[in-house]
Amino acid sequence: MAVFISICTQKGGTGKTTLTMHMATYFHAVEKKNVIVLDADFPQHSFFNERALEITKLRQDTELLADLQKQGRAPYDVRKVSMTDAPAMLDSLADQPDTLVFLDMPGTINIAGYDQVVKRLDYVILPMEADKLTFAAGMMTLDAFSKIGRTKGKPLKSYLLWNKYKSSERQAIYESIESMAAQRGDLTILETRIKDSVIWKNNRSTLFPHPEIKRLIYEINQKFALN
Ligand SMILES: Nc1ncnc2c1ncn2[C@@H]1O[C@H](COP(=O)(O)OP(=O)(O)O)[C@@H](O)[C@H]1O
Ligand SMILES: [Mg+2]
Repeated sequence: MAVFISICTQKGGTGKTTLTMHMATYFHAVEKKNVIVLDADFPQHSFFNERALEITKLRQDTELLADLQKQGRAPYDVRKVSMTDAPAMLDSLADQPDTLVFLDMPGTINIAGYDQVVKRLDYVILPMEADKLTFAAGMMTLDAFSKIGRTKGKPLKSYLLWNKYKSSERQAIYESIESMAAQRGDLTILETRIKDSVIWKNNRSTLFPHPEIKRLIYEINQKFALN
């Protein structure tokens, strides 16, 4: 069975695409999982476009090509899809064995097809920053998701992931957000904190994994039922 995962929240710039890319690439290249990414983030489709750019670069760089060949597998599938077509695409992928499907979605949920996609998701990861706006957006997203029915009664598991974490930030902010999140009862806080660092921007790739994401992947392997 395929597992459907989305890193999403109703706010732009929180790291949805960046984290999706690091995770998808690591799962594919290092963990040797079958990975498919559905880029439904209209109109940017930055995941799909970055893959296209990387393939163009690869054609001009024999060293990079050799690095990729060392992985011994073809790059994972990245499909550009509209939110209205995404539900049918998920249904067509549902029976694929041992497959992780990542959905990169827009930062607004008021679009046709969104509820139909949410119905089908297995895991949602809400990227969180230490500010009230991001927290409010995350909680609104979760509240909206809880009102959407489930396909075949399968539960949706929701996780909070600290992104752009700053150890210089007042720790009380993290603690207060975590305690509000814990009070909900429908949200698990991931222990891994993704630091605020340019490494995430500078090393994001649909082809080459970055080792810094390993800790998060390890935690996800422990907590998610991926196969
Ligand atoms: N942990 C991080 N540290 C520093 N910059 C980050 C981090 N995560 C994301 N970013 C940057 O934040 C910006 C928005 O990220 P992006 O993944 O495009 O967000 P979204 O998809 O939620 O709109 C990008 O410039 C990205 O490089
Ligand atoms: Mg994005």
